[in-house]
Amino acid sequence: MLTFKQIKPDNVVVMRHKVLRMGQPIETCSFEGDLDEGTKHFGAFLNNELVGAVTMMLKKTNTYKVHPVYRLTGLSVEQKHQHKHIGKRLLHFAEENISRKGTVMIWCFARDYAVPFYKKSGYQLNVQKVVIPHIGSHRIMFKFVPK
Ligand SMILES: CC(C)(COP(=O)(O)OP(=O)(O)OC[C@H]1O[C@@H](n2cnc3c(N)ncnc32)[C@H](O)[C@@H]1OP(=O)(O)O)[C@@H](O)C(=O)NCCC(=O)NCCS
Repeated sequence: MLTFKQIKPDNVVVMRHKVLRMGQPIETCSFEGDLDEGTKHFGAFLNNELVGAVTMMLKKTNTYKVHPVYRLTGLSVEQKHQHKHIGKRLLHFAEENISRKGTVMIWCFARDYAVPFYKKSGYQLNVQKVVIPHIGSHRIMFKFVPK
């Protein structure tokens, strides 16, 4: 059975290491902002085993004040469980949680590989391309999620 819930930063780090930063030191899997008050981590569990994770970080912004702005980061589904709609459902669960009180704007750096996945979940592409050292080319994508 597939279930979703909010999880602790330590669990997210383990999943990021398995999927996003395999072979790199585990320290590289802790992100700035992980422990911030406005940060929420979510996990997907298959028969109580963690198989996917995502983090939503509430960001302060001086330029956009219409809706709270979250940065989506570290979305990862264990390789053997990819392409079973776990990533899509986990993202939807996280979006619903952070938009309970009102509309939110979510943005992320999407790896080129993941752009079609985010498009299918309603994210729009910003033309700007960003190269993150050691990880590769990314695009900025964003989505408004209504209450
Ligand atoms: C990207 C990732 C999170 C997607 O999770 P997933 O559980 O495998 O994806 P889903 O099964 O939920 O896919 C949802 C839809 O997107 C499509 N999709 C997923 N990945 C895709 C890809 N790389 N290219 C094209 N389409 C893709 C699926 O076919 C599915 O389409 P459908 O709804 O028409 O059937 C997962 O593959 C992963 O962890 N990849 C490695 C880490 C990574 O790149 N993370 C993103 C960092 S920005």
